[in-house]
Amino acid sequence: DIMNDIMGLSTLQEKVREKLGIKKVLLVPGSYDQNPSLIKDIAKLGSEYFLSILKDGDVVSITGGSTMLEFSNAIKTDKKYENTTVVPARGSMGKDVVSQSNNIVATTSKKLGANYKLLHIPDELGTEAMKTLTQEPQIKKTLDMIEKTDVLVFGIGIALEMAKKRRLPEERIQELIDKDAIGEAFGHYFNKDGEIVCKLNTVGIHLDTFKKTKENIAIFAGTQKAESFIAMTNINKNISLVTDEESANKILELL
Ligand code: G3H
Repeated sequence: DIMNDIMGLSTLQEKVREKLGIKKVLLVPGSYDQNPSLIKDIAKLGSEYFLSILKDGDVVSITGGSTMLEFSNAIKTDKKYENTTVVPARGSMGKDVVSQSNNIVATTSKKLGANYKLLHIPDELGTEAMKTLTQEPQIKKTLDMIEKTDVLVFGIGIALEMAKKRRLPEERIQELIDKDAIGEAFGHYFNKDGEIVCKLNTVGIHLDTFKKTKENIAIFAGTQKAESFIAMTNINKNISLVTDEESANKILELL
C-alpha cells in the first residue's frame, strides 16, 4: 500500500491513536502475522514504555497469557521499586502454570525489586466456595490491593478462542456466540460496542477500577486481535497500545 510507505511509523501511531481516541499508540515495524518472533520486540517496547511511566510506590496489576509472559521476560532495569507491589489482575487461569498471571507477577516483581502478592483461585468456582475464599484475610488483602491499581498491563484475547482455551462449558460458549462476543480481557468477554456479555465467575480487577486506573497498557500482536482491541476501546479510552505495524494498519482498515 503506497499510503503506508509514505506514512512513517510515527504518523501511523498518531493516526491510530486519534482514530481510536486513546492515550497512546506505540508500534514495532513489520508484521507479526508474517514473523511471529516480532512478539519479542513488541514485548520489549511494551516493557520500556512501562518502565518509563512506572513510579516507585505504584500498584501494578498484570494479566496472564503468552504475550504478558514475553512482557515480563523483556523487563530490564537496574532501578529498584521497593515500594511497588505487583499483583495479578485476576484469579489464576489454572492449566498452564508458566503463562498464568501468578508466574508473570513473580517474574515482573523480581525484575523490579518490588513486592508481590499472588492469587490462587481457580476460574470457575461455585458461588459459595468463591464467597468463602474471598473472605479469607490474605486473599481479601490481595483483592483490595488490586482495586488500588495504578498501572494495569494486559493482553487481549479473541473471545471464542479464550473460552475454548479455558474449557468453558458448551452452553457458555453458545451464550458467547449468541451475544456476539468478540474480545476478552481479564476475564471479561465483550461485544463490539464494549458491552460485557459474559464474565467469568472469578475474582480480580473490577471494570469500574479499570476505568479509573491511571495507566492502562494493552499489548497485543497480530491482525487477528485487532477487532478485539477496537471493541476494548469502547470500554475505556485511557489505554496505551503496544502492537505491530500491520496490526495497526488492520485497525485502520476495520474502523
Ligand atoms: O486475556 C487475554 C489473553 O490472556 C491473551 O493471551 O497473550 O496468550 O494470546 P495470549
